Amino acid sequence: MTRKILVTSALPYANGSIHLGHLVEYIQTDIWVRFQKMQGHEVHYVCADDTHGTPIMLRAEKEGVTPEQLIERVHAEHSADFADFLVAFDNYYSTNSEENRELASGIYKALKANGKIATKTIEQFFDPVKRMFLPDRFIKGECPKCRAKDQYGDSCEVCGATYNPTELINPYSAVSGAAPVRKETEHYFFKLSECEDFLRNWTRSGTLQPEAANKMGEWFESGLSDWDISRDAPYFGFEIPDAPGKYFYVWLDAPIGYMASFKNFCTKNALDFDEYWKKDSKAELYHFIGKDILYFHALFWPATLEYSGYRTPTKVFAHGFLTVNGEKMSKSRGTFITARSYLEHVKNPEYLRYYYAAKLNGTMEDIDLNLEDFVARVNSDLVGKYINIASRTAGFISKRFGGELEPSAANAVIDELQAQAQTIADSFDQRDYGRALREIMRLADIANGFVADKAPWVIAKNPDAEGELQAVCSDALEMFRLLTLYLKPVLPGLAAQIERFLNVPALSWASAGQRLPAGHRIQAYEHLITRIDPKQIEAMTEANKENLQPQSNAPAAATPVPEEPHHISIDDFSKVDLRIARIVNAEHVEGAEKLLKLSLDIGEEQPRQVFAGIKSAYDPETLKGRLTVMVANLAPRKMKFGLSEGMVLAASDERGGPYILSPDSGAQPGMRVK
Ligand code: MSP
Ligand code: ZN
Repeated sequence: MTRKILVTSALPYANGSIHLGHLVEYIQTDIWVRFQKMQGHEVHYVCADDTHGTPIMLRAEKEGVTPEQLIERVHAEHSADFADFLVAFDNYYSTNSEENRELASGIYKALKANGKIATKTIEQFFDPVKRMFLPDRFIKGECPKCRAKDQYGDSCEVCGATYNPTELINPYSAVSGAAPVRKETEHYFFKLSECEDFLRNWTRSGTLQPEAANKMGEWFESGLSDWDISRDAPYFGFEIPDAPGKYFYVWLDAPIGYMASFKNFCTKNALDFDEYWKKDSKAELYHFIGKDILYFHALFWPATLEYSGYRTPTKVFAHGFLTVNGEKMSKSRGTFITARSYLEHVKNPEYLRYYYAAKLNGTMEDIDLNLEDFVARVNSDLVGKYINIASRTAGFISKRFGGELEPSAANAVIDELQAQAQTIADSFDQRDYGRALREIMRLADIANGFVADKAPWVIAKNPDAEGELQAVCSDALEMFRLLTLYLKPVLPGLAAQIERFLNVPALSWASAGQRLPAGHRIQAYEHLITRIDPKQIEAMTEANKENLQPQSNAPAAATPVPEEPHHISIDDFSKVDLRIARIVNAEHVEGAEKLLKLSLDIGEEQPRQVFAGIKSAYDPETLKGRLTVMVANLAPRKMKFGLSEGMVLAASDERGGPYILSPDSGAQPGMRVK
């Protein structure tokens, strides 16, 4: 019976480029899907961009486009990146779709009808200037432990402490720079706390890897809290039914995006959506994810499905994180490499597919891309071992035998290669691609041993041994065909080229039991792959160093690039909100030696209060009514004399100053300075 299998990879966020870390997941899934398709099962592989939420909304605003425009552009970029890495989704959709809106609303209503939704008033940080509630990562301030400045609301990058945003010293909004205020708001919750029994059973039924099941155990231990599924306007997402101004939190509708993408695919291909998603479905459902999002896929997601009347996942497969040269990907080291940049420099996507496959073993362990090892491994395994078998034998068949094969009656090496089909299949099925490739390379070694032993280039010199030459080369090409078949889930592009060269229909796993018959004609051998030059790798890391232009084709800088970049990007610069300000009032401050207190009109309701160190150079009376330039989004600072809500720009060095800046006539208070 053919199995019906639906497979997903996590939906990448629509506000960034695909990088080599992401590709661990999409390549891992694609290999598995291709393998299952080669088994003859009915497999559908769907994915989508994850388009909702505050970061995407703010990113669009910063770029001066609508969120819809942003996600459309990113959808095109992501689709091209995946296609170029041979990640073959059957459908690549978007969470911002009608299908997703309908499914999300329907699921929410079903959860509500099942008594699984509650409302609660909570207190949250609110940005009074931007007039929006702030997610934790948009609140910054001084670390309560080590007092490092500009740390995020959840953890300190300097000392590693974790805390609540409320514990930050001098918190400020990363959006406007304003001091956030606490404000009450009503939120909607999914009562996860009532789902523990169900989740324990679901976990016990073998749905998770052992390490993931252990993690679940820890979570049950510390108790499940209800899940906050709503966010207040302004928010880019779906409005909650009968709750004006309240939106589904992005993580509520993101996994539903798996269903929506499949629904869209079903409509286009006349498939039965319900057959895959109804409660007692016989179809299989597999989610590939990174370990960082296990919580969402092993707790929220199955519970959401269960209590809204759908089937639950057959299995969730979590993988580890990518490190490069043993360390976290880093922009200053040039190891934060985008998919596009890899393609520009290394060109061949299958080298990365091969390397990742060699490293993946189906566990949640991190995997390391060691760039030196990458070059060595690809060159020795693919070029040196595998392709070598054809490049040393195919020429004789074309030139001496008109492309016609005449295999020997029996060959123990071919028997051995065929005998391993099931073992290799099991390794792929268990996502232990590393083990599969070790076995395949062992077989490639045996095949190479056969060729070296028979030495067709020596036989070729003996005019009486034509038959032997044809048999040896025909057998070697049979071995090459079998190896190609086994490698096909990993190297689908190369396999397609070789199918044309061998003049055979698309290889499936069943073709491992067959043989190329006598009299079969192959095409002329053409050069298949090239070694990687370590210089390509060097150029790639150089191009990805943060202070170089990533897309530039300019030669790599001759002088070493400093670890800490001395330049800032346009992006960094545009974070500084400079405004024309009218000094509406200026006065001396009791007890302050250097400071004047200024009131600055920048077109907001209230003038900003700023303490400026310009007393030595200015009489306050002469400043009143003048225009100058201020930094409007500096974190407000509590000073001995009061709150300072910005900074005015002034020039000074040993030659004199301070001299405050003035705009040319015509500038108006509140105008942006760029
Ligand atoms: N949008 C969410 C997923 C929603 S699924 C309903 C998300 N997006 S992501 O773009 O941050 O990540 C997408 C996938 O790539 C995740 O499974 C994540 O674990 C994986 N990876 C992102 N960076 C990675 C590495 N550096 N290494 C390995 N996998 C990584 O999470
Ligand atoms: Zn700290």
